[in-house]
Order: sequence, then structure tokens, then C-alpha cells
Amino acid sequence: MYRTTPPVTRLSDYQPPEFLIDDVSLRLELDAEQTAVDAELSLRRNPAATRGNGDLRLDGEHLALEAISLNGRALTPAEYQLEDDHLLVHRVPDRCRLQTRVRINPAENTALEGLYVSGGMLCTQCEAEGFRRITYFLDRPDVMARFRVSLVADPARYPVLLSNGNPAGEETLADGRRCVHWEDPFPKPSYLFAIVAGDLVAVEDRFTTASGRAIPLCIYVEPGNEDKCDHAMRSLIKAMRWDEERYGREYDLDVFNIVAVSHFNMGAMENKGLNVFNAKYILARPETATDADFAGIEGVVAHEYFHNWTGNRITCRDWFQLSLKEGLTVYRDQEFSADMGSRGVKRIEDVRLLRARQFPEDSGPMAHPVRPDSYIEINNFYTATVYEKGAEVVRMQANLLGPERFRKATDLYFERFDGQAVTTDDFVACMEEGGGIDLTQFRRWYSQAGTPQLDCEDDYDAATGTYRLEVRQHTPSTPGQPEKQPLHIPLALGLVDAEGRDMPVQLAGESQPPAPGTRILALRQPVERFEILGCATRPVPSLLRGFSAPVQLCYPYTEEQLSFLMAHDSDGFNRWDAAQTLAQRVLLAMVDDATTAVPASFLDAFREALQDETADPALLAEVLTLPSEGYLGEQMTVVDVDGIHRVRQALAAAIGSGLAAELQAVYARTRSEEGFDLSHAAMGRRALGNLCLAYLVRAGDAQGLEQAQRQFDGQANMTDVIAALRTLLEAPDAETAAAGEQALAGFYERWADEPLVLDKWFALQAQSSRPDTLARVERLLEHPAFSLTNPNRVRALIGAFASGNPVRFHAADGGGYRFLGDRILELDPLNPQIASRLLYPMTRWRRYDAGRQQQMRAQLERILEVEGLSNDVYEVVSKSLE
Ligand code: ARG
Ligand code: ZN
Repeated sequence: MYRTTPPVTRLSDYQPPEFLIDDVSLRLELDAEQTAVDAELSLRRNPAATRGNGDLRLDGEHLALEAISLNGRALTPAEYQLEDDHLLVHRVPDRCRLQTRVRINPAENTALEGLYVSGGMLCTQCEAEGFRRITYFLDRPDVMARFRVSLVADPARYPVLLSNGNPAGEETLADGRRCVHWEDPFPKPSYLFAIVAGDLVAVEDRFTTASGRAIPLCIYVEPGNEDKCDHAMRSLIKAMRWDEERYGREYDLDVFNIVAVSHFNMGAMENKGLNVFNAKYILARPETATDADFAGIEGVVAHEYFHNWTGNRITCRDWFQLSLKEGLTVYRDQEFSADMGSRGVKRIEDVRLLRARQFPEDSGPMAHPVRPDSYIEINNFYTATVYEKGAEVVRMQANLLGPERFRKATDLYFERFDGQAVTTDDFVACMEEGGGIDLTQFRRWYSQAGTPQLDCEDDYDAATGTYRLEVRQHTPSTPGQPEKQPLHIPLALGLVDAEGRDMPVQLAGESQPPAPGTRILALRQPVERFEILGCATRPVPSLLRGFSAPVQLCYPYTEEQLSFLMAHDSDGFNRWDAAQTLAQRVLLAMVDDATTAVPASFLDAFREALQDETADPALLAEVLTLPSEGYLGEQMTVVDVDGIHRVRQALAAAIGSGLAAELQAVYARTRSEEGFDLSHAAMGRRALGNLCLAYLVRAGDAQGLEQAQRQFDGQANMTDVIAALRTLLEAPDAETAAAGEQALAGFYERWADEPLVLDKWFALQAQSSRPDTLARVERLLEHPAFSLTNPNRVRALIGAFASGNPVRFHAADGGGYRFLGDRILELDPLNPQIASRLLYPMTRWRRYDAGRQQQMRAQLERILEVEGLSNDVYEVVSKSLE
């Protein structure tokens, strides 16, 4: 079949813009079906650009042009040329004023890019290239303009009219419509533009900045949700204070507004002074939201707020530099959450996510560097690599510099580049200068894709007390990058003696032993050898403490050593990691031996952990959580979907029956305290208690079943309700499963009017390991509450099934794949971004057995055959098949 392949955009083709826009005036006459947009752009030729043919080329899509004039004179059709995705204005002077009037249809915009309808409101999403769906513009981040915006609307339908910057007056027009003005004094790229219009209520608070300015803070929500904004508001205030204290960054506008919308492609958006959020990351009460939801809100509210400096005041030169703002801002929000809660637990969660999402991406067909060098559709590059690996790369630099020098380096970055659109290289240059170190080799972390593997070997010479460690680094090839160069990798090393104490790590050539503890070794060559002196006994190495670099570590630990580190390592992260490795070993061995027999030593290690009453419950819950089915699959040469599921269930049941008394004791302890709060301790108790309960129920423990039912009936908070419901639905015996079904029906009755809670109801069913789950998911597509045009709902049902239920999605008969193929083809014309994201599990087809490979490929090929595919889906499917 003939197809014109969409164009590839390359970093190496970057050219500065030929024109700059200093000022923009926009006037939007808002209407759900036909909004009129008047734009006036003050343009000027860019002295730094090479001169083209004199034409001005503006981006624009899905726009109906109604009028165009230059310096006040209407243009004749010969003076411009209109195309599908741009407008050429011929021979414009070096300075000019261009006025256009276009019409757009927000109600038809199901892609949710540009101006669209969500419920009864109008809102925008412009990152990355949505502004071109609002007006003709130089829609690229290195064109930064001052925006003045006027919003005209019927005050009965749209009483609240918001845009970026500061309020600048309003009036009532002769026809009764209201006109509200906004002015943003800070030049910004078009992707940070936003408006919201709707019948919204504001939850208000106030923040006084370090220099004493009182900033009104408003969270706008649909009426009825006012009582679910408390946590978001508190998180915002904490984030504003933290950014002042940790980075010296003060808020810069007179107001700060947030809007929660129900239809949103991503988590949230950092539009200047007007953050727009997926309602999921704002709305929460203990009865409606889980602890994980609360944590997500705190993190995302902070993330978007932090973008005000890392993203908005200093933005990206081009979209290849996306990690400049995203990697840095994720690092900042991770550190914020670590400071607000438990640093150790936060690190574990972050690494768990990195390994579950970014590592597979980095070894698959869509692998790309933190700074990609080409793309077809930029929306496909809002990835775990750009975000989470990008954050790890910033974290390594922060750790290499240490807190004082890192602060000096970020101060320099803010001072030097404020108001500019810059590159990741500019950022690294500030780290080098402010930190006084050479990061030449380190820069490869930005340009080289793939997860480096570290192979460690050691030996010990008892006669001289010398311990030798040899580390080999190797990065597997990735698409377009067959050969890899060695990276500069900080390897945090501790040596643990037989009593579990840290030994001093004294390198050969050093005359004095340092204090006992962690040393950071710099790996630069393909092979590095270290000699450590003064080891009276053979140490157990604790490698990559705190996960000091985003690498895959290989060291031939014995099971005894892992149990030992799990119990004694002074590094909390490595205690957890040892437990994970141990569990992974046991599980993979069970798959290999086709057995459900669990080694007694493993249960002993779990028992010992459970009996430690001094342990932090949150950390203990992390330690006692088995690696996910997805993660275990990643560790196998060929993913054995059914084997993994079988042994993981068996191990959980063995824990539940073998350690029933210990689990009961811990469950009882976690339940002893009354009341609900969101302290780290309370969340930790709930996490640990619910984990114990899940093990007990999995083993069919009668008391556990009763407790789960009671916990569900108690309806104390959503964390406990969902945990109980999930365990009941997964219970091995039919009677309990029937009780679970009944509970599920009750849950629906109670929450039918709360969309975010209903999402949980859909997801629970989609993730059920019951054999008939696909049939149920197909029935749920017909449920009146299901909708293909609400991304949260699509993710809750289709996404949760395809990405969160490996054993049913990857059923050998290919039913799951056909189901996903059908849904992607339905979704692509509606919302390409969402369709493209759902594809992810099928891009992994090479990791499965021949039968599944063939079935997944068949679906990918079938999708590729379809005419009029979006660039988003085309790029992911075609690269997956390459
Ligand atoms: N900048 C937003 C954030 O991370 C995400 C926007 C993503 N937009 C997109 N079209 N992919 O906070
Ligand atoms: Zn972001």
C-alpha cells in the first residue's frame, strides 16, 4: 500500500526563527461551537537568523481564516497563501503588525489540544503544539512574546473568565456580554498560553512571599467540588515556600490560579499563572481518594508550580530540549516530596517507577536519549526517559556537586538565562561553572540512549586485607545508536562487615582511612578496578547505594548475602533492593522449576522483617511488596506471562499461610490507632496493614477474609476501602469472590456521581486476574458511564487492562491484543495522543514467545494499514515494527 510518510523533525536541522514576536493581543469571543479569535502580532525580523525569501510562515491548523491585514491594510489573496497547516504571508517588512481573525470549533475538538470543551467549560491545552489550533502564530518555544488577552462571553454561561498573568480590568459590552482583560508581563512561548471559561467556584487562600508580597491563590472547580481542594491548596503553599527556601525562587505575578478539569490528556499543565489540571490531581477527600492519590496531588501541584521558574521564566529552545524543563522539574518535585514525607520511601517509589517504565522503554523500539535527536510527533516524547531518566541525570549532577555547589550552580542558571529559551547544554554548562567540575563525558547521558549495565566482580585477599572490585560498563545498542561510548557513572559503594557495620572505604594510594560509610566511585572507562585497603574481614559490598545512577547492576550475590543486606545495610534503599532481588530470584527460580514450592529461607527473611517492631511501617511495606508481574517479565529472556502470574500468586499465598500469625499481629498493630490523617506514619500504617491483609486473603485465611469484609463495610477511607475490595475480588474461593462482587455493586451505587471514584471502579474490574476479565471489560465498554472521549475513563478501563493486567491482556489466544487493536482504531480519529499511549504494551512484542509475537505483530500491521492514521500512532507502530 502507498503511503506518504510524515516528515521527521531533527535536532540537527534547528534554525533560529526568522521572525520574532514581541507582543500579542488576543481577543476571543467564546462560544462552544464557534469561537472567534482576533490576533494582532507585533513582528520583527530576527537579527540572529539567516534571511529567507522574505515570506512569513505562521503555523495554524483547524482554523477558518476570516480576515487578515498587515499594518492596518487588508491583504489581497495574492499577498498570502493558505495551507492545511500553515499560512504564508509574502514579502513582509522587517517590522510589522499582522492582524488575523479566525473561527474555531471547540466542541468538535476531541483531541483536547488547543481550545476545547470539558463538561460545561471551555479550556485550553497548548503544549506542545496546540496554540496553532487557536490562531496563526510562530508556534515554537524560542519565540517569546508578551500576551494581552481579552475574553468575551455570555456571563450566564461563562461567569469565570481566566487567562495568564494579572487581571487587567473588565467591562460589559452593549450586547450584554462580558469582556475580561488579562495581561502577562513576562514574555512567554505560545505553549504556555491558556484560557479557561466556565461556571466555576473558587477556593481561595493567600501566600505571602519572602519579600512580603501577598499573593491570592485560587483553585477553580466545578460547583460541588469545593470540599475537595484542601490538600491541593496546602500542597501549593508548601511548594511556594519550599522553592523560596531551597532555590531562592519567589513567585512573580500578582495572582496564582489553578483550574481542575475533567477532560485532560495528561496530568497537568504549567501555563503561566494559570495552571490547568486533570481533576484527578486536585480533587481529594479521604472518602474519595487514596493515600497514593493524595501523594500524587502533592507532587503534581508542586511540579507545575516549580515550572514557573524551571520551564516558564527559563524555557526550552526547541522540543528536543524538553528534559531541560521536565527532567529538572521532576527532580525538584521528587526532592520536595522527599522533604515533605519520607526521603527513603520516596526514593524507593521513584526507582520502582523508573525501572517499571523507563528501563523497558530504553530497551525497546521507542528508545531515545534524554535529549532525543529526531521525532515525527513530539507528543510521543513526553516519556519516562525525558521525565524520569532526565530527573536521574539532574540528580547525578546535584550529587556530584553537593548541596552548596549545586545551589550556586542553579543560582547561576537562573541569573544567566532568565527570560530566555535555552538548551540542556546551557544547563550543564552552569553545573560545570557553578560546581567547578568537568562534565564533558557526563554530557553523554543526554545524547546516548539505553540503560547501562554494570557487571561487578570482586575478590578478597585475607593476607593483606585488600578488597578488589572490578566494574565493567556496557550499554546495549538502541535504534539508531548501534555503538555506545562509556559514560561517567557515579557508583556509591559501601562495604559491610560481618556485624552489619559500614567499614571505611580506603582506596589504594590514600594514606588515611576515611570515616566508615559510603564512597562515591567515578566510573569513566569501560573497565575500572578499585583496590580497597584495610579490610580485616571479607566485606559484603553494598553497591549503587541510594541508586546513585540509572543503571542495571549485576553482582553475583549469594542468597545469604542478600538476606544479610536486607537485614543490615545502613542504606535503606539497598535494604529494599536486596529484598526485591531476593524475591525476584525466588520467583524466577520457581518459574524455571515449574514449582510452587517456596524456599523456607525466604519465608524466614520475611518473618524477621515482619517481627521488627521498630521498622518504619511505610518502608517495611515497600520491603515486603513482591516485584510486579511486569517487572519480573522484564528480567526474563522470553516473558513467561502465565508462569510469572502462577508463581507470584503462589508465593503470596505461601507468605499468607506460612506467616499468618505474624501478618495478623502486624495488621492488628496498624489498626490500633483511631482517626484519619495524612501523616507519613499514618499512611505507612495503612500501606503495611493492607499488604498484610492481601497476603492473608490470598491464602484463604478465614480471619483475614472476615477482616477484609469488615474493613470494606467500615468505609473509613478510600485507601482502606479499595484495598479491601481488591483483595476480596481476588480471593481464591468462590464464596468470597461472590461477596466481592456484591461489594463492587455497592461501591458503584455509592459513587455513581463521583467520576474520579468511578474510574477506580472501572480500573478494579479491568485489573482483575479472573479468567473472564476481557469479557467483562468488553461489557463495560457499553456501560452508560463509559466514554471514549474522556481520557481518564479510557485509561481506567482500556489502559488498566492493557498495561495493568499482564496475565489477561497477554492471553495466549490473542483476545487481549485484538481488543486493544480495535480500541486504538476507534480512538485514533478522536484523540491521537491517547490512542498512541495505549499502544505501549504492544510495542514490547519482541519480548514474548512466538505465538504472542505473531498475534501482536498482526495487530500492529493491521493498524499500520489503516488510512488517515495520526502521526502519533503512525510513529509508534512503525517504529515498533522496524
Ligand atoms: N508540561 C506538562 C507537565 O509535565 C505536560 C504537558 C504534556 N503535554 C503533551 N501534549 N504531551 O507538567
Ligand atoms: Zn512538567
